Amino acid sequence: TTLYLPMDTTAIAMGADDVAKAIVFQTKESSEKVNLIRNGSRGMFYLEPLLEVETPQGRVAYGPVSVDDVESLLTQGMLTGNADHPLYLGLTENIPYLAKQQRLTFKRAGIINPVSIDDYITHDGFVGLNNALTLLAEDQQNIVDEIKTSGLRGRGGAAFPTGIKWQTVLDAKPTGAEQQKYIVCNADEGDSGTFSDRLLMEADPFSLIEGMIIAGLAVGATQGYIYLRSEYPQAQLILEQAIATAYQQQYLGDNIQGSGHKFDLEVRIGAGAYICGEETSLLESLEGKRGLVRAKPPLPAIEGLFGQPTIVNNVISLATVPIILAKGAQYYQDFGVGRSRGTLPFQLAGNIKQGGLVELAFGTTLADIVNDFGAGTYTGEPIKAIQVGGPLGAYLPEQQWHTALDYEAFSAISAVLGHGGIVVFDNSISMTEQARFAMEFCTAESCGKCTPCRIGSTRGVEVIDNMIAAHQNQSPTEQSVALNELLVDLCDTMIDGSLCAMGSMTPIPVKSVMTHFADDFITDNSTQY
Ligand code: NAI
Ligand code: SF4
Repeated sequence: TTLYLPMDTTAIAMGADDVAKAIVFQTKESSEKVNLIRNGSRGMFYLEPLLEVETPQGRVAYGPVSVDDVESLLTQGMLTGNADHPLYLGLTENIPYLAKQQRLTFKRAGIINPVSIDDYITHDGFVGLNNALTLLAEDQQNIVDEIKTSGLRGRGGAAFPTGIKWQTVLDAKPTGAEQQKYIVCNADEGDSGTFSDRLLMEADPFSLIEGMIIAGLAVGATQGYIYLRSEYPQAQLILEQAIATAYQQQYLGDNIQGSGHKFDLEVRIGAGAYICGEETSLLESLEGKRGLVRAKPPLPAIEGLFGQPTIVNNVISLATVPIILAKGAQYYQDFGVGRSRGTLPFQLAGNIKQGGLVELAFGTTLADIVNDFGAGTYTGEPIKAIQVGGPLGAYLPEQQWHTALDYEAFSAISAVLGHGGIVVFDNSISMTEQARFAMEFCTAESCGKCTPCRIGSTRGVEVIDNMIAAHQNQSPTEQSVALNELLVDLCDTMIDGSLCAMGSMTPIPVKSVMTHFADDFITDNSTQY
């Protein structure tokens, strides 16, 4: 009998390693041979640790499983997929949370053993690479054209068209004797409530590796780096094992699958700063320097790592490349709405009953995701606000939860989709505290290079504190109005004058609170600083 239990960080945090030990211990004397495979997570975090058993009908799931459940699961026929156990969830594929998704980038997540290249190949792995090699035999431009036609846009948050970025690097000329271009994967996933990069790397690392090889072939880069945040040790272990296997099997190295093409890949561990997720700061850090933002231009696509043409793409952008090359640009382009093509792995977090990863085509609404998948708040209280797009994203009030999840529709309501993080808050939240937190976060994470961000955020915290004090002291209305105007003015200065998104986006959550939660802002009075 084959059992599956994730070795994903969330599953481990919920006790998966202890459950695995208990299964091994309690089945070592059993007459039935039990093969326990540590897979990646399916992304249904509210069910972790999720234990699956292979049956003739498909995989049957039980969860969330604790060590104390193992004995009853083994004695009550779990090995044959018994439906009587209270943790029985039926066929995994039929669990509505999973069945209602449109999994493209995450289609293998939780199905394969992440470090088995054979499993990867059995599940359509490297089909995209083979197609890329065929296209390459004619012209490099063909690969770039596929990415352009697919409509893929940067999944790190900025949504810049990936094909156009690749074209810029393809057309750019490297300098110096080495004639080197680079592929850099931004795996410094720092947005609050986000985990899709980590889940992908821990569940299906070969798809990222394959995407990076294809990017290298497309633009003529032979060296890749994955800049991985230091808080992801499990992803590091899994990636390094997968990379070593890819070298052994000649998917990496001097002669990829006998094609004569070369691509080398290394994991580099990040320095532990939010700003190192900003691409130029990341490049500085990768070069061994302090993570200070560089002025653009020059774009990294033209002068990036060590001054050479460089693709900097997010994990999800790169891991989506194989399916585009495998199934064709049109297949991918057929998902989505408007200029937002394909799918986005939304990440449901915060005060939510059923947290996890939900990959869907663009165009669905927040209300659908939060209610249908998330099943409301964890506390059972009504939802008050939803922050989308990380700590620099807007807080959305109920009247905006029906906005289509598409880059342009969000931009039209002064919000961002960003990296797809959705953080839910119930009615116990203080919106004043959240607005203040945005400014405070910026004081802690600012790289310090430019004044509007470095000083502006510090002044932002002060102004909000003064507004709270004025309210508590029942100061004259004129004083409150003046402070309000001062805060708006400060936000506008940060938006207009900051060098990078850190400073220019910090006002987004602040302004969203001032606009949509005006009745609560300052007057909710819930916090004393
Ligand atoms: P940006 O709009 O300046 O650039 C987007 C990308 O397009 C960059 O890689 C840039 O080099 C490239 N680009 C722009 N014009 C180009 C051209 N003509 N040719 C080739 N490439 C070109 O945005 P930025 O500052 O890189 O990212 C900001 C975003 O990052 C925010 O919207 C936010 O959502 C997201 N973010 C994501 C985080 C995460 O954890 N994933 C954390 C913090 C922010
Ligand atoms: Fe650094 Fe902030 Fe300026 Fe960005 S906006 S360069 S993080 S000081």
